[in-house]
Order: sequence, then C-alpha cells, then structure tokens
Amino acid sequence: MNKLISFILTLFIIMGLSAQNKKTVVAYFSASGVTEGVAKRLAKEHNADIYTIEPAQKYTSDDLNWRNNKSRSSVEMKDSKARPALKESKSLAQYDVIYIGYPIWWNLAPRIINTFIEQADMDGKTVIPFATSGGSSITQSVSDLKSLYPNIKWQSGMLINR
Ligand SMILES: Cc1cc2nc3c(=O)[nH]c(=O)nc-3n(C[C@H](O)[C@H](O)[C@H](O)COP(=O)(O)O)c2cc1C
Repeated sequence: MNKLISFILTLFIIMGLSAQNKKTVVAYFSASGVTEGVAKRLAKEHNADIYTIEPAQKYTSDDLNWRNNKSRSSVEMKDSKARPALKESKSLAQYDVIYIGYPIWWNLAPRIINTFIEQADMDGKTVIPFATSGGSSITQSVSDLKSLYPNIKWQSGMLINR
C-alpha cells in the first residue's frame, strides 16, 4: 500500500515538473513603446522569457508617418511582400508557447513580423498573437497571419488597449 502511495506521489511530481517545463516566450515588436509595455506585463504574468524583435534599421518618426504615403511604413505596408531586415536572427525552436506582439499598422501586423516568423522555426508551435492599436481590432491581422502560416497552431488574438 505504501509503495502504491509513493508511486502515485512520484507520478504527480513528475507530471507537475513537466507542466512547469512548458517553455513560454513573449516576442514583440514595438515602434513607440506601447506594445513593449504590454509585452513586459504579459511576460511577468506568465513567467515567460521575453524577446524584442528589432529591425536592422530603427523606425524614425518620419518612417512612422501614416499620413505620408511615401513614408517607410506606408511603402512597406502597401507591399505584401516587403520583409524589412532584422537586427539579428532568432530561433524560437526551444519554446512550446509563443506570444507574439505588435502594433496594428493599417489593420495588419507590421511586415517585420512576417520577416520574424519566417526565420524563427515556429511551425507546429502554439502561437498567441496580441496587439495594441489606436482603436482597430486585431482580427484582420490574425486572419492574414493564419492564412500565410498555416503550419502554426494559432490561438485567438488579444487586442490589449488600455
Ligand atoms: C504606420 C502606422 C499605422 C497605423 N495603423 C493603425 C491602424 O490601422 N489602426 C489603428 O487602430 N491604429 C493604427 N496605428 C496606431 C498604432 O497601432 C498604435 O499607436 C500602437 O499602440 C503603437 O504601438 P507601439 O508603440 O508598440 O509601436 C498605426 C500606427 C502607425 C505608426
């Protein structure tokens, strides 16, 4: 009887340890700091690692001017094939659960998110998108990502505005 109890206890301990071992990361891009604040909160809440997606060339305020249809962000967002370069490459292969955060640009995820996903080994991973915006929903950006990257296990997106 004692042996049975200690066997069951050991089983529970092993199950508990392997549940804790589910590695989670919050990867985010933020041009002006809003998404960064949310990402830091999420990482703390979920006891997750955090990774900043950084462009090789930072976005200046001129680059972010959506009123100018020739600004860098406007040009990139008009071109669905634009893939702005990353400062460094990063694999997320070691993680089981990936939160991926971005600001909504023209109802979509900034193209640097595509660059990142395409080099990060995320096929088969559980990915939870989150975004901040000036009011637009996250829906269109998530359906776009889902159709471009069908091998990822996408969870529903979370718009986290104040
Ligand atoms: C180029 C550009 C396009 C944007 N397009 C949208 C949009 O379509 N809808 C919206 O609600 N907000 C839009 N915004 C506002 C941002 O989504 C919002 O300010 C966001 O919280 C910024 O996050 P960040 O500080 O992490 O970069 C846009 C901002 C920029 C710079």
